[in-house]
Amino acid sequence: GLPEFVKIVEVGPRDGLQNEKVIVPTDIKIEFINRLSQTGLSVIEVTSFVSSRWVPQMADHTEVMKGIHQYPGVRYPVLTPNLQGFHHAVAAGATEISVFGAASESFSKKNINCSIEESMGKFEEVVKSARHMNIPARGYVSCALGCPYEGSITPQKVTEVSKRLYGMGCYEISLGDTIGVGTPGSMKRMLESVMKEIPPGALAVHCHDTYGQALANILTALQMGINVVDSAVSGLGGCPYAKGASGNVATEDLIYMLNGLGLNTGVNLYKVMEAGDFICKAVNKTTNSKVAQASFNA
Ligand code: HMG
Ligand code: MG
Repeated sequence: GLPEFVKIVEVGPRDGLQNEKVIVPTDIKIEFINRLSQTGLSVIEVTSFVSSRWVPQMADHTEVMKGIHQYPGVRYPVLTPNLQGFHHAVAAGATEISVFGAASESFSKKNINCSIEESMGKFEEVVKSARHMNIPARGYVSCALGCPYEGSITPQKVTEVSKRLYGMGCYEISLGDTIGVGTPGSMKRMLESVMKEIPPGALAVHCHDTYGQALANILTALQMGINVVDSAVSGLGGCPYAKGASGNVATEDLIYMLNGLGLNTGVNLYKVMEAGDFICKAVNKTTNSKVAQASFNA
């Protein structure tokens, strides 16, 4: 059966903006996050402590982290690929972090400039330091349903990487369909494999919507007992190291589906649409959310 409550992890300020060519002013990012904080969302991924040479849009990570109002009941994780990023994140006031690995060797090299094995060593250092400071660490596995460089990825490989991250102490593993090529069929096969090693309560799905399958893939995951879903308001998003990949599933569309299923999220759809409208106007884009398009045209 379906879970009663679904936790939404809003990744708009990070995944949503990281691929934007025009640098979004820091005060706009801060206002965007503050607005999202007032929608009922309980987790908002704020920024990435990565190299500004690699991802210029995230160069203001410290200012954003320090500038946001941290609302009670909301958690504000940030991406940290290595100890350097982790230390900067903590200095900026981060109290939750994510490491981000991949199930594809080629993607790992393009994205974080090291092999999967090397990345595990770096993540282990980060997660260990985080645990010493009581900072919860999440682990991403990119290319869980396909890789822009290698094509198909086996469920075994996804399971192996997920198990490593879970074993080192990540409390939750987010399985990323980085390029949005998965279908309910490949999602089911991948999850069946991963769930042999990791309980569904410690898993999340992170779907990009390139091929229009994201909501179907998410519904498949929910039916298999997963109740944490990543999404980005307005369907913003993309990875600079995954060409052609489109945005994340839109938070508005996800909430609309979950509301229709009678599942509780604690998030106010209308307020999320307003936050989406704010950021779209600020970056001069039209929303990718079907629900927002339909509502604003109604
Ligand atoms: P590197 O060049 O291998 O790092 O980059 P290095 O350790 O060899 O150091 C080289 C230089 O980088 C040094 O500076 C370091 O100080 C600096 P220099 O001495 O030459 O002046 N450096 C850093 N600077 C800032 N922050 C750091 C840091 N570490 C080293 N943390 C690195 C390795 C990981 C830093 C680089 O490859 C990088 O920044 N990559 C960006 C990755 C990224 O943000 N990708 C997008 C997010 S992942 C994603 O979108 C997928 C996801 O959404 C899930 C899904 O959809 O599947 C999560
Ligand atoms: Mg992503």
